[in-house]
Amino acid sequence: MQKPILVLGARGQVAIALQRLAKVRGISLVAAGRPDLDVKDIGSIAAGINSVGPGIVINAAAYTAVDKAQGEGQEEAYTINAEAPARLAVLCKANQIPLIHISTDYVFDGLKGAPYLEDDEMVPLNNYGASKAAGEMAVRAAGPEHIILRTQWVYSPNGGNFVKTMLRVGQERDEISVVNDQIGSPTSADEIAAALLDVAATVEGGAPADLWGTYHFSGIGMTTWHGFAAEIFRLAGEAGMKTPKLKAISTLEYPTPAVRPLAAVLATDKIQQAFGITPASWEETLARIFPTIVESVKVEATA
Ligand SMILES: NC(=O)c1ccc[n+]([C@@H]2O[C@H](COP(=O)([O-])OP(=O)(O)OC[C@H]3O[C@@H](n4cnc5c(N)ncnc54)[C@H](OP(=O)(O)O)[C@@H]3O)[C@@H](O)[C@H]2O)c1
Repeated sequence: MQKPILVLGARGQVAIALQRLAKVRGISLVAAGRPDLDVKDIGSIAAGINSVGPGIVINAAAYTAVDKAQGEGQEEAYTINAEAPARLAVLCKANQIPLIHISTDYVFDGLKGAPYLEDDEMVPLNNYGASKAAGEMAVRAAGPEHIILRTQWVYSPNGGNFVKTMLRVGQERDEISVVNDQIGSPTSADEIAAALLDVAATVEGGAPADLWGTYHFSGIGMTTWHGFAAEIFRLAGEAGMKTPKLKAISTLEYPTPAVRPLAAVLATDKIQQAFGITPASWEETLARIFPTIVESVKVEATA
């Protein structure tokens, strides 16, 4: 019998999608999160590993409050995104358990002018990106058999994300201003979960040395936050929902504590070649998942 997959950070967007999909696929997966398993406490991770006996660990826990990490959350972001993965990787190496760690496009500065390759230099612009870059380096340095999967612009029916915010605010306002000069690829947590389970199935129990390493996964195609919002409200209009007027603004007109990369698009050829994982277009995926997200926004509004 296959050993279970242990997922850290049980209630995050990607972790919930992993749990949902594992059930559908009949894969044994245990997700653990706070307060039972706090990645800041290596003892609680060790206890989780001892009790689950996983064949592979997926670290989906992270400090994801990008703007807060520029201020009061800076230390917490480093503890969770850099120090915790460092200790986790050492533990996985000692127990000979492969580790899949999730990272972000925010390790890049977005100035390359072309999609980023996995081995492009990391030049983070903000504390969150720097903490995630440090986490990646620590995982590589500890040297367990590992996969680092970078993704971007994640949305799902669960947790907080751009699609849900747009739908909520769109019901309250007649006009919304959205940044039109940051480019990326919207990525569904469901698609990330599918990619992670496919990768896990391939590498669990051993894989050729050259298969381990860093990969990019995101929806195919790119857009701006404004373009993303326009597509969200096109679908909302089709579903008979109120749609606000969208005003395109520049990043300069919408200053945030954390500077974001302007165009940190991820090249996804490597994961396609190595694992046969082909991401779908971001518009197709959004259209498919949209009704579930609308439902979840409605439920949360009445809760
Ligand atoms: N969201 C994005 O747009 C995006 C973009 C690129 C990359 N990523 C990466 O993708 C991964 C998954 O992101 P996500 O969107 O699923 O994040 P998320 O929805 O914000 O979830 C993060 C989860 O981590 C958990 N967590 C935080 N600190 C923890 C701790 N000390 N111990 C245990 N669990 C802890 C949180 O637990 P609580 O529920 O207890 O708070 C939360 O459930 C992360 O590595 C993130 O950096 C995300």
